[in-house]
Amino acid sequence: MLPFQQAIADDLSAVNDLIIEQLHSDVGLVENIGHYIVDSGGKRLRPILVLLTANCLEYPQRRHIELATIIEFIHTATLLHDDVVDMSNLRRGKPTANAQFGNAPSVLVGDFLYSRAFQMLVRLGSMEIMAILSDTTNVISEGEVQQLINAKNPQVTEADYFAVIHKKTAALFEAACSTAAVLADAPQQQRDAAWQFGHHLGLAFQLVDDLLDYEGDQETMGKNIGDDLAEGKPTLPLIHALAHTQGAERALIQEAITHGGVEHLRDVLALVKECGSLEYTRRKAQEHAAAAAEALRVMPDNKYRQAMADLARFSVTRAY
Ligand code: IPE
Ligand code: IPE
Ligand code: MG
Repeated sequence: MLPFQQAIADDLSAVNDLIIEQLHSDVGLVENIGHYIVDSGGKRLRPILVLLTANCLEYPQRRHIELATIIEFIHTATLLHDDVVDMSNLRRGKPTANAQFGNAPSVLVGDFLYSRAFQMLVRLGSMEIMAILSDTTNVISEGEVQQLINAKNPQVTEADYFAVIHKKTAALFEAACSTAAVLADAPQQQRDAAWQFGHHLGLAFQLVDDLLDYEGDQETMGKNIGDDLAEGKPTLPLIHALAHTQGAERALIQEAITHGGVEHLRDVLALVKECGSLEYTRRKAQEHAAAAAEALRVMPDNKYRQAMADLARFSVTRAY
């Protein structure tokens, strides 16, 4: 168990039970695919954020268990869709749902999980939380579409990249923390701090994800390495390397983005390392993790806040 999980271990186990309960469907294939992806694990980071934030802000009731489950369902739906779009075949150490069952069932079960999340949200009964989460799912979709547009385009800038990772990843981290603060009826200053924590943590998390796509270990990650390059995804390591090379080297990176594929993986990786692009990406992640930790200053000083600080550290030291 990771150190930040200890503080909310019982709550997390209640979330895992509710996830299983809420996967229920009369249609067998929905349950099969739902269980297939949910049972294969996952770090449960977003529900953990809900639980830590709610506990940190001394929320006295039990509705944070439902909120955490809703957020994990939304996350799982985005993964089902993302793996179809990215044509990925490995997730959580197993073949992706699209590899195992096909694209169509994956997309449809993703829709099932999204709509189940919104059914639960209606039962939760907070218009304010519903507003945040409906905006969030909308923004995530925009982020994924923008990323699709940016693929194979070497003109994509660092600012464009940050806009995409904010939308596709950080938005759900922000929502996890800020909806928990709303549930806890926290004062505005702490709601803002919760949002800031999620914002910076989400950016740090995705920066490291993009770093690990170049230097991670496939076995540990449970995902394929080199997928971003294969798709011609201009993530920060490539964007940085492109800006710091000239002539034939620059042309090679440009070509790798424009055409995708991994034939030049070794050469591109060598250039990315030579340019210090992996260190640059890691430094950016560390800056955001530090900003996340800084945002915690106005939160009550308790073991949950400590666990949130641990989580910020984990986001940049993680290998999976
Ligand atoms: C994967 O998220 C998608 C990204 C935003 C990089 P996680 O790495 O949190 O996925 P699981 O839930 O632990 O598998
Ligand atoms: C993660 O996208 C963001 C969402 C799922 C919305 P990525 O494509 O970067 O993440 P992985 O590498 O597939 O987990
Ligand atoms: Mg993907």
